[in-house]
Amino acid sequence: MVIPPDLAPEIIQARLRSRVIGHPLEVVGEVGSTNDRVLAAGRDGAPEGLAIIADRQTAGRGRLGRPWASPAGVGLYTSILLRPNVRASQVSLLSLVAGLAVVEGIESVAGLAPLLKWPNDLLVDGKKVAGILAETATVESRVSYVGVGIGINVGHDAQDLPEELRASATSLCLTTGREISRGELAAEIYNRLDCWYREFSDGRYQSILARGRERSAILGSSVDVLVGDERWSGLAVDLDADGALLVQEASGALRRVLAGEVSIRLTGAGVP
Ligand code: BTN
Repeated sequence: MVIPPDLAPEIIQARLRSRVIGHPLEVVGEVGSTNDRVLAAGRDGAPEGLAIIADRQTAGRGRLGRPWASPAGVGLYTSILLRPNVRASQVSLLSLVAGLAVVEGIESVAGLAPLLKWPNDLLVDGKKVAGILAETATVESRVSYVGVGIGINVGHDAQDLPEELRASATSLCLTTGREISRGELAAEIYNRLDCWYREFSDGRYQSILARGRERSAILGSSVDVLVGDERWSGLAVDLDADGALLVQEASGALRRVLAGEVSIRLTGAGVP
């Protein structure tokens, strides 16, 4: 299958300043899921930093078992193989690391300032523009390898977005009115991830958390939390050392959210 010009490996490689991330780089026309591909490579002993990009996915996955629509020509679908020497509980922080890299990559290439909605959605003007899916293989409680999957709506028109998401999602092109090269964006994200992943590997968690707080779309907001079948609400107050979200209930009790779905509560005129 032909690789579109904006994903040509030479375009991406020419912009890479990273030491680890994006080496080696594999660009394919079509794949089931780049996460599956990178996890299989991890099992087969591929090196940390391997990045896979596909023009199209036929079985793209989102969080919580949802599909990730992945039409050709418009989205950036990439997964990166990491081999961090950490406990499984620290992988949330690794998602934050990836989120920061994507925020900064979009900022630099598209001139937008996305915010992070815990755990790993990126919002522009309150609408989702990208998501991250980190999948981990563990041995006992240690992480063996992680596939960090990043999906970004880049060139989508409204009709390229699934109908049920049109009100809540957007793309870089819809927001800026400009064409954005997926390859350039990928290279910039790899460069940023290289820096943030070094912070993580060196144990500089406080600087990661500080930036995560700065770029958060939800800290200080009233939120609804859905974990499994349990739904409750509170005030999103902070991120803890492992990247879990701390939410304070009306009773004052502080709850730690490690998984699930968080949405900002709409308040104001006409909203009960
Ligand atoms: C989410 O917001 O639910 C996470 C979406 C993650 C999508 C990306 S696209 C590249 C990689 N391959 C997949 O199958 N999923 C991730």
